[in-house]
Formats: sequence, C-alpha cells, structure tokens
Amino acid sequence: MEIHSLTTRRKFICQSAIAAAAAIVPRAFAHTVRGQGRSAIPTLDPNSLARFVDPLPLPAIAQPQGDRAAPGKPGERLPFYRVPIRAIASKLHRDLPATPLWSYGGSVPGVMFETQSDQGLLVEWVNDLPPKHFLPIDYSLHGAGRSNPEVRGVVHLHGAKAPPESDGYPEDWYVPGQSRTYYYPNQQEPALLWYHDHAMGITRLNIYAGLLGLYVIRNQAERELQLPDGKYEVPIVLFDRHLGRDGQLNYPASADPEHPWMPEVLGEVPLVNGKIFPYLEVEPRKYRLRVLNASNGRKYRMSLPADVEVHQIGTDQGLLPAPVAITHLLLAPAERADLVIDFAPHRGRRILFSDDAFTLMEIRVSASQVSDTSELPPTLRPVPRIAESAAVKTRFVTLDEVKKGVSASNGMLLNKMHWDMPITEKPVLGTTEIWELANLTDDVHPIHLHLVRFQILDRRQFDAFQYMSTGTLRYRSAATPPDANEMGWKDTVRVNGQTVTRIIVPFEGYAGRYVWHCHNLEHEDNEMMRPYEVVAAGG
Ligand code: C2O
Ligand code: CU
Repeated sequence: MEIHSLTTRRKFICQSAIAAAAAIVPRAFAHTVRGQGRSAIPTLDPNSLARFVDPLPLPAIAQPQGDRAAPGKPGERLPFYRVPIRAIASKLHRDLPATPLWSYGGSVPGVMFETQSDQGLLVEWVNDLPPKHFLPIDYSLHGAGRSNPEVRGVVHLHGAKAPPESDGYPEDWYVPGQSRTYYYPNQQEPALLWYHDHAMGITRLNIYAGLLGLYVIRNQAERELQLPDGKYEVPIVLFDRHLGRDGQLNYPASADPEHPWMPEVLGEVPLVNGKIFPYLEVEPRKYRLRVLNASNGRKYRMSLPADVEVHQIGTDQGLLPAPVAITHLLLAPAERADLVIDFAPHRGRRILFSDDAFTLMEIRVSASQVSDTSELPPTLRPVPRIAESAAVKTRFVTLDEVKKGVSASNGMLLNKMHWDMPITEKPVLGTTEIWELANLTDDVHPIHLHLVRFQILDRRQFDAFQYMSTGTLRYRSAATPPDANEMGWKDTVRVNGQTVTRIIVPFEGYAGRYVWHCHNLEHEDNEMMRPYEVVAAGG
C-alpha cells in the first residue's frame, strides 16, 4: 500500500464526522473504477436506503501553518495554508461501503476557510492525486486531448476578487506532484464563497469526484448584526450523484464511445454535506443556514413545511438589504443563499427539508427550552441599486446551442464562439457595463463571471426563433425585475430559456485575463466558457 507523502503535515480542527471517517485510499483502489467498466454495476436507488440515520457532517475549519510574506510586500506577513488534494474514501451513508472520492483536505466538501474582509491569505494547493482518472474523460473536448496528462487540476475560488494569477485560469492546471500557491486578498465584503476545480475540459469530472469546498468571509459590521453564529450557523452543501449499489461513483457516458460527454448530468442520489439523507439536530431557536448548490447540473427548488418561517438574508455575494420571507428557494448550480430559520415555535418536531424532486434531510428540533440572543434585524446592509446610466457600455451576448452532427454530441456556446477564439469582451477596469445575456436555448443556464459581483436588472422573454432566423429581437413580454431574494450582489445568474437577462457589472479589482461561463459543468467543459480581459484604464 502506498500512502501519499503530503497527507499528514497539516493540522485541521476536526469537527467533522466525514473528515474523521475519511481514509487515505491506495492509488490502485482509486482507479479500478473506469467509466465504461462501471455500467455493469446496478444503479443505487436511494429509496432503498434507511433515511436519517447519519448526522449532518460539518466540514473541518482550515488552520494556517504559520505565515509567509505577502506577494510584492515583503514586510507584510499573511496566514499560510497548505491543502492537499488527494484520493479518499468516505461513507456517504451508514449502510453503504466507503466511496472513493477526491478531496481538498480530507473530506467532501473540503476543508472550510474562515476569514475576514481585507485579511489576505495564501493557500498552497498541493496536487497529490493518483496518476489516473477514475471518471470517463471525453478526449474529444477542447483541452482534454490525449496529449494531456489525465489527472490535472487548478483551483478557482468562486466569487473571489482575486488577482488573475491566483484565479485558477482553466489552462493553468498542474499535475500530481506539483503545487501552486495562490494569494487571496479578500478585499471584498462578507460572503459565502466556494472553491472548486477548474481544469480545462475535465472540470465536471473533477468536481463530481469531490473537488469542492467552502470559504467564508466575515467582517465587524456583519458581526454587529448578531445573526446566529458558532454552532447555530450551519453550512449546507447540496449535490447529486449517480452511485452504484456498491456505493461507488458513476458518471454517465453517452452511447458514442468517441464522445462520452453528456449534455446534462442529474443524479438520483441527493447528498447534503456529502451524506445521503442526513439529519440535523437543532435547538428551538434561530439558526443561520448557508446553502450552496454545488451540483453539476441540478437546480433545486427547496422548501420546508408551510408553517416554518424562512427568511433569506443573503445571496451569492453577501447580505441582502433586508430579510426576505420566502416559501421556496430556487438555486441553480453555484448559487448560494443565506437563510435564517427560527425553530422556536417547533419544539420537539421533526421537519423535512426537501426539494421538489428529493427529500434532502431531516431537522430534529429538541424539546428543551433555550434562550436565544441572536437577531433577525429588519435591515442588513445598504445595497444601493446601480443606475443604468452608470454603464459605459452595453454588450449583447448570446447563449447558443449548436448541433455538431447526428452522432456527435450537441454543445453549447457563448456568442457562437469557441474557447480558443480571440477575446471579445474587454471591459475597462473601473468602469461599469450592462451585459444582456440572450438565451437562445430552451434551458436555464446559470452564468458566472469571475472576479466581479453584479446586480440583476431584469429578465424579458423574446422570440428566439425569430432572432435566429432574421436577427431581429422581438420581445414577448414586459421586463420583470429580479425576485426579491435576488436584489443583492450576485456572481451567478439564472438565465432562463428564450429570455434576455440583463446584469449590471462594475469591473473592479484587477486588470487581467479571467473567464465567464455557464456553471452547468457539462456545458462549461464543452465550450460554454469564454475568456474575458479586464483592461487597465488608458491602456
Ligand atoms: Cu464556480 Cu468559473 O466557477
Ligand atoms: Cu449552460
């Protein structure tokens, strides 16, 4: 048995059942699971599993290993973290054998970062993965050809205002045995960010294998709101998977062995923080739930029983102006929601947290009396709406579906352009633009821009067929404003089928090359991603 070298050097405070249970998997075991060979294993029906037998695991909090000089400022020291990226095996349910996964720091979701606005930090992301991939690579996708090493990765911190060299450009991947140290200045407002793999052409497989984790930024103003915190603040990471009855990951493949890529992957098995049907024990008081949809392609429409009051207090890029009472929560891949739920009226009750398609977990409210000094403040922070007149430029960009032929996979594009075509979006640093995202397809595409945060202006249906055949844009409806719980800062926006969604984007932070893309990972890996470049003013 071969144990990876860098696995034991770092120290994490381990709060987590999943982290504790995670073991190091010998390399040979991790890659006996090959895409094609897996089809013989019958699919796991999650309804065959006992429900609510595992407690909801919480990710361990990352601990720095000392400090290092800040890039370009040798006098300034920053906390330094080292995160090994490696194969593990983790029990996804009490009654399943451990599942081989890939992990950041020993669990899936990975080790969780907690930091403050303006407190920069350094992370060395150490690729200690085995040399062979265990999910079916489509070598015909751009950037995924056979001349590349099979296992490669690069980490992107989603929602971060990070310098371009630390942003995890998809082509900046590196292989097992190598590492990269990235600098996150955290010069941004409090929010729940998440980090995940972004390697060109195999992001969907690497994230499916488990390469994702949370990253929270806080500040004093947020603390003064006295929202539920400590053990009363619970991260909820949702993703779905296909599993075999042996508990191992299945990633579906198309019928064409030359093009195994699938346009959409929706698993039968729902996981919450890496467990199937977990339970969460709560006290009868207020809780803050920080929800991330980390699925490849699934959108969730979640709800609690009608008599349980839920307020959404924040979105992708932090707090809303004021809490919004919600009955359902819609999250497309990569979107986040910050919720406050008061369990005080529900002592002794078991509450199901569900999605339209799935039961996700059970919340068990204890019968005890507790005191609760946390608050749900009537206002949270100012989020001034950006005036449209602030925009110096409006870009009309299309989300397109292309038919490549009868047998080949159909793909999706942005602006009818492929990844390797010249950069067309070059906003000027310090300026604001409106992007009109015109979805010519029937599907929802969650569109994400790296580096920036933005506001949603409105959505408006149009005649996509007429646009494609004549080039004229004819609207079919009046513009509708964003939902009340989308009125904050966003970094990912749902662009509904045959709809123009307008966003207003201040390009702040850094000049350099970034990407924007659909966060349906199957789409992203097959050309629904484009580079863009923020150019320095006057440059
Ligand atoms: Cu969640 Cu390009 O990222
Ligand atoms: Cu898409």
